[in-house]
Amino acid sequence: MSKREGYYIELDEMAESMLRGADFLGCGHNGIVYLLEDNKVIKIFKSKYVCKNEYDILKKTSKSKYFPQVYFHGDYYIVRSYAKGERLDYYIKKNGLNRKVAANMIRLIKEFKELGFTKLDIRCKDLYLSDDFSIKVIDPKNNYSKNCSYPRHLMKGLSKLGVLDEFLGIVKKEYSEEYREWNFKIRRYLGRGIK
Ligand SMILES: Nc1ncnc2c1ncn2[C@@H]1O[C@H](COP(=O)(O)OP(=O)(O)O)[C@@H](O)[C@H]1O
Ligand SMILES: [Mg+2]
Repeated sequence: MSKREGYYIELDEMAESMLRGADFLGCGHNGIVYLLEDNKVIKIFKSKYVCKNEYDILKKTSKSKYFPQVYFHGDYYIVRSYAKGERLDYYIKKNGLNRKVAANMIRLIKEFKELGFTKLDIRCKDLYLSDDFSIKVIDPKNNYSKNCSYPRHLMKGLSKLGVLDEFLGIVKKEYSEEYREWNFKIRRYLGRGIK
């Protein structure tokens, strides 16, 4: 449990008992995540406000297949479903982009719209890809508090991976209503001019 150093948080008995024997999965700026039994994970937060914000987002996304299911929560933790698979950026680095993955990324952004998000954006590292190319969001943030009308960080990530043009080609076919805006805004943002 040494990884919990720095997290001097009083957890309730339920959380403490779940953590016994749990495997460490990863750690970010806000939380530390352990794998539990039955395809569940527990995320322990440093701040109860961040925990509440994330819980409030997950409540609103509970019917969406792209987001984790929540099972229990406390002031400093959330027990949710485990996202099997590989981080999207690692997958693309190894395998490149394919049509199915790109189409699922586009569907994900459409889902963000359906869910009433004001930030239609997410980073590649917060997306996990299963064997069947379905996508799961692991770490939603500020989706109802920040504003972004197009997937800027997502496409910036694709640009770094060298697959932005390929992605935009698929957007043009699969999501033509948004193509002009996404293409214009990301090229302006990246300072490349319009192609
Ligand atoms: N559902 C999950 N499935 C697999 N790994 C996860 C899951 N949730 C979190 N992780 C791992 O834990 C790390 C930290 O979780 P994250 O929710 O991103 O915390 P933070 O809010 O601090 O950024 C992630 O980068 C990832 O490595
Ligand atoms: Mg994170």
